Amino acid sequence: MNKTIEVMKNHRSIRSYLDKEVPDAIIDELVAVAQAAPNSINGQQTSLVIVRDKQKKKQIAEIAGGQHWIAQAPLFILVVADFYKSKLAAEKVGKPLVIPESVEATIAVSIDAGICLQSIITAAESLDLGIVPIGGIRNNPAAIISLLNLPEYTFPLNGLTVGYPADRSHKKPRMPVAAFRHDEIYETTKLPKLIDEYDVLMQPYLKSVGRENEVNWSNQTMNFYSFVYFPTVYPTMKLQGFKNDK
Ligand SMILES: Cc1cc2nc3c(=O)[nH]c(=O)nc-3n(C[C@H](O)[C@H](O)[C@H](O)COP(=O)(O)O)c2cc1C
Repeated sequence: MNKTIEVMKNHRSIRSYLDKEVPDAIIDELVAVAQAAPNSINGQQTSLVIVRDKQKKKQIAEIAGGQHWIAQAPLFILVVADFYKSKLAAEKVGKPLVIPESVEATIAVSIDAGICLQSIITAAESLDLGIVPIGGIRNNPAAIISLLNLPEYTFPLNGLTVGYPADRSHKKPRMPVAAFRHDEIYETTKLPKLIDEYDVLMQPYLKSVGRENEVNWSNQTMNFYSFVYFPTVYPTMKLQGFKNDK
């Protein structure tokens, strides 16, 4: 339809990178598109930490549970939930900062961060860069907070590795669109059959990428969702000032 839509529909995560730096001018553009994104009440409660230092990327790779592509990629971008700037506004106008205590704050800033992330992804992929989002940093958010010097009222929400792809990898099939799109009302009845179809469809894909052990979507999803896989997120958020109790 147009170049932007083609780029977006061609997305696939890239976990293998060439030994080639991302030029400063491109990093500046990635920062600019993220900052131009819409954000809740124009509170601008997100920030980015740009990491190029090899040693730091190695540490982040370990914190994220041994994800070696973080160390290999020339660039790692952390998207931070950032009510520290709001705290400075609170002090400036002499009002209490209450919102970080609410679930609403966590929802709003997570949406803002997701929009930032996708803006960077679209721009990066349009420049033939490869990316993979890194939620694995929430495996040990306290370690990221300490490594990157994050102040109170901030939280490391998600990372993104960026670099020139060493391979194009396979595009991962999605569920039939009818399992994603509902018109006018949400229809539960159609879903079991569509999920069955997708579980069958995923088998040749998983075989082609050597991951037959994941079996299918239902099995693999429940390998994650039958327990809380990042149990320190909530206690660390509370310590940072995100009480999530209102
Ligand atoms: C919020 C978020 C966090 C993610 N965290 C990780 C991660 O820590 N490590 C990783 O290798 N992939 C991660 N991914 C990539 C997903 O696994 C990937 O997007 C999904 O399997 C679909 O594959 P595709 O991106 O190739 O289409 C993450 C994706 C998102 C959106």
